[in-house]
This record gives sequence, C-alpha cells and structure tokens, in this order.
Amino acid sequence: MSDDRYLTFALGKGRLANKTMELFEKIGITCEEMEDKSSRKLIFVNEELKLRFFLSKGPDVPTYVEYGAADIGIVGRDTILEENRNVYEVLDLGYGKCRMCVCGPASARELLQHHERIRVASKYPNIARDYFYDKKHQTVDIIKLNGSVELGPLVELSDVIVDIVETGSTLKENGLEVLEEVCPLSARMIVNPVSMQMETERIKDLVNRLRRQLSA
Ligand code: PRP
Repeated sequence: MSDDRYLTFALGKGRLANKTMELFEKIGITCEEMEDKSSRKLIFVNEELKLRFFLSKGPDVPTYVEYGAADIGIVGRDTILEENRNVYEVLDLGYGKCRMCVCGPASARELLQHHERIRVASKYPNIARDYFYDKKHQTVDIIKLNGSVELGPLVELSDVIVDIVETGSTLKENGLEVLEEVCPLSARMIVNPVSMQMETERIKDLVNRLRRQLSA
C-alpha cells in the first residue's frame, strides 16, 4: 500500500452522487470542492485524505473502473448488470432501491406464458436478453430505446418493456403494470481488481466503515 497514491472514485452523476457524498460525509469523507454546484470542474480532490472524485454518466462508471481510470465506482446494479464489466462488486449501499421488471398492458400477460416471439423494448438490452433467453427460454425481439421506454407498448412499438420501476407511478399513469420481476436493484460499490490488490487495506477499511455506518 502506498500512502501517497490517490484513490479515485467515479460516481454516477445526479441523485446517486449526492446520496453517496451524504453517506461519505457521515464517515468523515468530504469534498468541499464538490459543493460548488455552479462549478464546471470535472475532478474534485481531497488533498488531505488523498482522494479524487469525478462524476460521469452512470453507464460509463463500470468502464472507468474496469480500465483502472477509477479505483472505485458507485453505480446502480442495473448498470453493472447491463455493462457486464470486469469489476468486483463489494458493497450494497442500500439506497436507490427499485426493481427491474417486465411491464406492459395487462393484456400482454399471457404473451409471457407461451414462449411467443414478442417484441421487448428496453434501455437495458443485455438484461432483457439474459432474462428472456437464459431464464425464460423465450425467443424475443429486443428493441433498444434510450428513455421514456413506457412509450413502447403505448404506440405499439413493442408488446412489453423491461425497465426500472421505482414508485410505479409512471406505469400507473400510462395504463401499464408490472407483469414479472426480473431483479431487485440498488446502488452498489464496485472496485477495479488490480486496485483491490494494490490498495487492499485502504479499500477494506473504507468498505468496513461504510458497512458500519449503513447498519447504524
Ligand atoms: C425511470 C424508469 C421509469 C421511471 C420509473 O425513468 O425508466 O421510466 O423512472 O419510476 P417510477 O416507478 O417512480 O414512476 P427516468 O426518470 O430515469 O427517465 P427515462 O424514462 O428517460 O429513462
């Protein structure tokens, strides 16, 4: 372990990053530079603790961590499953809880029972493919969308969608429902495998402190 080395964190931009910094603050890790919301800076440093933080789009977090550009990443489990990068998942942070589900109109329920070749729209084509092909053994056509996925069945682009459900209000307001649950989701901490070896003590200590704080 070298004490001079900076430990670099990649955080998924937005609510997740805010929640993460709130949690870190509770274990004494702060980053004053990050609090200036008008700043256009991309990298924030805590010189004293030898920590660096940067914000990126969620799906890029596992990429930075796999290549070692960040030692540690904080990102949703949905992104980890979709990106399927070579990283260690070390901690469930508990926030950002939601579910990955197959959703659609009630009338689509029976399409899921008989191995029919249906159309599935999703922002998460890999998760959708794994679920339908590997788990359900149902051949489907997957259509990649980039957002507002609930539109899929409404405009007859697809029969169902695979998407995140948090409160369920987007579904409800659009006459759709959860047909099947794929998996539960929440924010996770991921670590680069080489960093895990090089910085074992620092990373283990951080994980232990976070774990204790989360169960407090
Ligand atoms: C997410 C998700 C759903 C919605 C679920 O979309 O894709 O559309 O939130 O939340 P709810 O169950 O609380 O209604 P997001 O707001 O991230 O935007 P997007 O549709 O552009 O992906």
